[in-house]
Amino acid sequence: MRNLLILLALTGLGFTSCTTPKIAEERPPKGEKAATEKIIGLLKERLEKDYPAPARTKRDAHPKQHGLVKAEFIIEPDIPSQLKVGIFREAKTYESWIRYSNLSPGNPDLKKDSRGMAIKVMGVAGKKMLPGLEDALTQDFVFMSTQVFVTKDVKGFGNLLGSINRSKLNAALHFLTHPRLVGLFLKVQIQIPNLLGVEWGSTTPYLLGDGMAVKYAVLPRTPTTESIPDKKDNVADDYLRERLVANLAEEDVYLDFYVQLQKDPRTMPIEDPRKLWKPEESPFIKVATIKVLKQTFDTPEQQLYGDNLSFSPWHALPVHRPLGGVNRGRRAIYMTMSAFRHDRNQEKMAEPASWADFRE
Ligand code: HEM
Repeated sequence: MRNLLILLALTGLGFTSCTTPKIAEERPPKGEKAATEKIIGLLKERLEKDYPAPARTKRDAHPKQHGLVKAEFIIEPDIPSQLKVGIFREAKTYESWIRYSNLSPGNPDLKKDSRGMAIKVMGVAGKKMLPGLEDALTQDFVFMSTQVFVTKDVKGFGNLLGSINRSKLNAALHFLTHPRLVGLFLKVQIQIPNLLGVEWGSTTPYLLGDGMAVKYAVLPRTPTTESIPDKKDNVADDYLRERLVANLAEEDVYLDFYVQLQKDPRTMPIEDPRKLWKPEESPFIKVATIKVLKQTFDTPEQQLYGDNLSFSPWHALPVHRPLGGVNRGRRAIYMTMSAFRHDRNQEKMAEPASWADFRE
């Protein structure tokens, strides 16, 4: 046995894929491009079925928009110097939009679901990564209401989506044969008391500067005092929007924006967002404050404006490049799917430069 191991080591056979990756190192698996294209095909098929003309086409994922709200995105002055990179380089206050959503289209808010928070920071100088958006003055951050994602890679996600698209029976069979997926699905689908008390996670990693990798998290500064409503109380289907309206009519709300550094590539992998990066192993480090302003946001015009915006993890400065297979897939998926829905709605895609770009 020992001789066989020495022989394999000498010839390099069998060991190439077993070496520990370096910090921030990506290892694209075979078949990733084909899986990404398959997902795009399935998503287009689903939108065509769900929104036959002349219905307005919504996002395939996160179509239920609770609201688009104004927030100041404030970079802290005293962050550790190694993290002062890209948008975090200098203490500055940016205008931003935050779009809150549910993953599922028509469900009442009380039903377990994955929730979304997408942030568009405005006034960000420097060339951005996506073709056609290089000179846009915006940068996006995309969060969901957990710290882990449901599949390891786009291939896994494509297989899941394919089974869901085929039939309920196929989807059930897929879950039966993928027990880990069931556990993760149950974990990411949650009930929440309100949107301002949620702990948000990027779930997937991002480059920071030249060779660091981080995940992002946004946590409420003060825990919410509201509780999950009781089904018996005849709760409104859209109680999350109603509570957001009520909360922001009263006061500004503060959230804290953190980065979590990748320390050990084995326990904190780049290529598997199902794996939690444990805060005990690498604590969250605060880099910005989000001040969600006291405001009225719930008008039909502002709802439509938010619906027409596009957010992508890839719309960022290159020093914040998304990492890992799920993120690599999202580059083409978000660009193509946003263009697809805008085309079907005969609407132009546009990036705002400031709050002033929106006029009721
Ligand atoms: C392979 C995996 C994924 C696929 C196929 C996928 C697909 C999509 C699509 C098609 C959209 C709508 C794009 C548009 O029309 O503008 C979207 C939006 C969104 N996704 Fe994903 N996604 C994936 C992974 C993730 C992950 C890991 C997160 C975790 C943060 C996430 C969170 C969101 C959120 C919050 C939105 C709504 C953004 C907005 O408000 O516009 N997705 N996704």
